[in-house]
Amino acid sequence: MELVHSLAEQYAAAHSTAPDAVCTELIETTLKEHRHAHMLCSPEQGKLLEFISCMIQPVHVLEIGTFTGYTAICLAKGLQTHGSLHTIELREADAATAKEYIRKAGLDNKIVVHTGDARTILPQLNYTWDLVFIDADKVGYIEYYELTLQQLRQGGFILADNVLFHGQVLEHPVKGKNPEAVDAFNQHVRNDSRVEQVMVTIRDGLSLIRKL
Ligand SMILES: C[S@@+](CC[C@H](N)C(=O)[O-])C[C@H]1O[C@@H](n2cnc3c(N)ncnc32)[C@H](O)[C@@H]1O
Repeated sequence: MELVHSLAEQYAAAHSTAPDAVCTELIETTLKEHRHAHMLCSPEQGKLLEFISCMIQPVHVLEIGTFTGYTAICLAKGLQTHGSLHTIELREADAATAKEYIRKAGLDNKIVVHTGDARTILPQLNYTWDLVFIDADKVGYIEYYELTLQQLRQGGFILADNVLFHGQVLEHPVKGKNPEAVDAFNQHVRNDSRVEQVMVTIRDGLSLIRKL
């Protein structure tokens, strides 16, 4: 299902600042060489994440689902000078690619890549988060949300990607493991009095969730 008209997406891309040289190389290499390249965030969404981070000016950022490192680099651009970003990736090959580009971007002193399952690594990260980006396996979204909300500062933000899941959450009834998990996550957040949220219909849907 086309969620955003392709002409609108092309127009938005043509009127948005392009990624920098390192991110352009990372995007091109991932698109050319990675068999799961569809998991890469779009340049416009990458720029939006960068802008959100620059607006918040976080000290501690957490990303769940590094892939090849593009969104980690975008989110790190808003960090305060003494800040750091922790990102978790299950697959070693992707974590290695991410480290390579993080080094090329000159951010290896700010971004820590953890390789392994977020369910194991998250409890080991003892930080108060200002900003969290959830972009890993969809069946884990509620668990990641609950684990990170505890450690999110009051007024901090959780961003959750793919909340429209290719339009499959719009079907009645919602069918399939991932669409059902995303729909359950969206309902979980909507019914949570600890937060307020807005769902943005960029690309595959991005929820901005603020802890009250
Ligand atoms: C949609 S991609 C992330 C894309 C990335 N944020 C970007 O646009 O640059 C999701 C990533 O989450 C990783 N992942 C899936 N399950 C995970 C888990 N349980 N723990 C850590 N990473 C996981 C996958 O290996 C994959 O690389």
